[in-house]
Amino acid sequence: MKYQAPRGTRDILPDESWKWQRVEEVFRETAARFGYREIRTPVFEETELFARGIGDSTDIVRKEMYTFADRKGRSLTLRPEGTAGVVRSYVEHSMGHGGRATKLFYFCPMFRYEWPQAGRYRQFWQWGLESLGSLSPAVDAEIIHFSVSLFAALGIRGTEARVNSAGCRECAPTYNELLRERLASRLPSFCEDCRVRYERNPRRMFDCKNAACLEVLRDAPSILESLCDGCRDHFDRVQAYLARMSVPFRVDTSLARGLDYYTKTVFEVHYAGLGAQSALCGGGRYDQLVEEIGGAATPACGVSAGVERLLTALESEGALPATEPRPAVVVVWMGSAASLAGASLAAALRELMSVEMDYQERGLKAQLRDAARLGARFALILGEDEVARGIAVVKDMQTGEQEAFPVGAVVGEIERRLAKS
Ligand code: HAM
Repeated sequence: MKYQAPRGTRDILPDESWKWQRVEEVFRETAARFGYREIRTPVFEETELFARGIGDSTDIVRKEMYTFADRKGRSLTLRPEGTAGVVRSYVEHSMGHGGRATKLFYFCPMFRYEWPQAGRYRQFWQWGLESLGSLSPAVDAEIIHFSVSLFAALGIRGTEARVNSAGCRECAPTYNELLRERLASRLPSFCEDCRVRYERNPRRMFDCKNAACLEVLRDAPSILESLCDGCRDHFDRVQAYLARMSVPFRVDTSLARGLDYYTKTVFEVHYAGLGAQSALCGGGRYDQLVEEIGGAATPACGVSAGVERLLTALESEGALPATEPRPAVVVVWMGSAASLAGASLAAALRELMSVEMDYQERGLKAQLRDAARLGARFALILGEDEVARGIAVVKDMQTGEQEAFPVGAVVGEIERRLAKS
């Protein structure tokens, strides 16, 4: 029987994983520059946390969660997103007591039972930020700025930040009523799912993946007409901050996020090169969530992005260096005495640099060909003769020049040459 990775999941093989490391590195550096610190929460949580946090009317909770009972019959769910778990942890550990905003980041896998297609997986990775404890529109702007900066730092050009307001618990219901009123006569044109959404939470209709439904929604009223004064003012100030910070953005009144916890600002950054799944990241403010899952009232704002999509965008921009990191030295050896001497030199060199060594007992030519294929800077050649004379040959793989050195001088010599090149 042959096993395969489960549908919608994928292996990240070594030819690809170094690209992931590069994205993670740049993300971590950028997060540190913006003052965010890492949090690691469990991969699974109580199902109830997601049902409450993300919302019963969302597609995620209705049909995309990996939910299972453990051996004691407790209902647990693989996290479909990061925010609910971070907020649970924030409340559990009373993180908000310092007076300043708590700024957290994560980089980890998420799980959604979605229909797999380009850019959509059942296990996918997200980087995310959550800033808890401030009502200031400057926080929303900081998070949008972070997203745009990170994509630019990675070399993705032509991203577009789209912003909208989701209103608050005061004005959003007014908008829902207005939507119901205006869409009532068009209801037969919508898919069955949208008709359920219409009853439960009409704004969820904007999440529909069906083009015909989205077409009808083009005539729907804009939420901006229904905002209360507080939400209107907040939205204006977010835009003022973005403009002063020179962060390019566009107001998109059709932007509705697929999770229920949002209040006020919502945003996404899109990259056209991705086709249908063009959202690189999405986020917004969620001022009620902490309280809804049992904490003290705490305003908050955050963002998450799909790492697979980010990598696809990087590939299509040609923004990744063409090759992965190369070893500085490949130890090439023949005969068992040379194998011992080679292993000992490799051990000493590995304190300082990356070193590869052959374990297949192949001939000199095959080993040197391999060293060239790996892109090594130097080959260190040891045969029976070299071992008997207490020397090793350093071959410069760029010029082809070879020179012999006493074994004791090899490490220093390679270090000196690397520093010079
Ligand atoms: P989300 O829009 O559901 O938001 O997901 C954020 C990003 O994750 C998307 O823009 C997309 O890049 C990626 N993504 C989502 N589903 C998949 C999938 N099935 N396969 C591949 N990539 C996917 C959230 O998750 C919120 N927690 C964002 C947030 C944080 N809001 C406030 N704080």
